[in-house]
Amino acid sequence: MEIVQPRVLVSEDDIRRRVRELAARIEDDYADADEILLLGVLRGAFIFLADLARELTVPRRIDFIALSSYENGSNFSGGVRLIMDSRINVTGRHVLIVEDILDSGRTLSYLLETFQARHPASLKSCVLVRKPGQEVEVDVDYLGFDIPDEWVVGYGLDYGDHYRALPYIGVVEPGADDDV
Ligand code: IMP
Ligand code: MG
Repeated sequence: MEIVQPRVLVSEDDIRRRVRELAARIEDDYADADEILLLGVLRGAFIFLADLARELTVPRRIDFIALSSYENGSNFSGGVRLIMDSRINVTGRHVLIVEDILDSGRTLSYLLETFQARHPASLKSCVLVRKPGQEVEVDVDYLGFDIPDEWVVGYGLDYGDHYRALPYIGVVEPGADDDV
């Protein structure tokens, strides 16, 4: 695929500012917690989590999980499955799931259900960007940005595993990457 320069949707400065604001709110909300566990969803959330973790001062642990979508041939069944679990036992901990993007809502609702079943002390979510129109209703506790329904890349987000290291969130214009 041809690598094109994506159009900037959320600038590096805007992301930095917003991450600071989210961290400040998280600090406030967890002021009485002895420690929080930041649980990043690989791979898209790795940069967001890295920046968020460094803006926080509340005692924090960091762990990662990875997911896979169930696919049956061309019929996407809409399910998700944990392919890499957390190493830290979440029971009794204040868990904050850090996710890159909310689209259908399936991933986050699956994660909330899965981790709630393990009896954390508390369970919340922090999501960098949200597209409109979730198929599954899910509450986000800390949200970076609401964005239009376009495929976004950068700051951890990919298209065909490219663009993750871009410092901003951008849109790959339709057709710009056609191989034909
Ligand atoms: P869900 O539809 O809310 O379950 O989100 C599914 C997953 O699809 C997200 O965690 C992302 O990894 C990926 N995804 C959805 N929309 C985008 C996008 O615009 N860019 C990059 N990844 C996306
Ligand atoms: Mg993801």
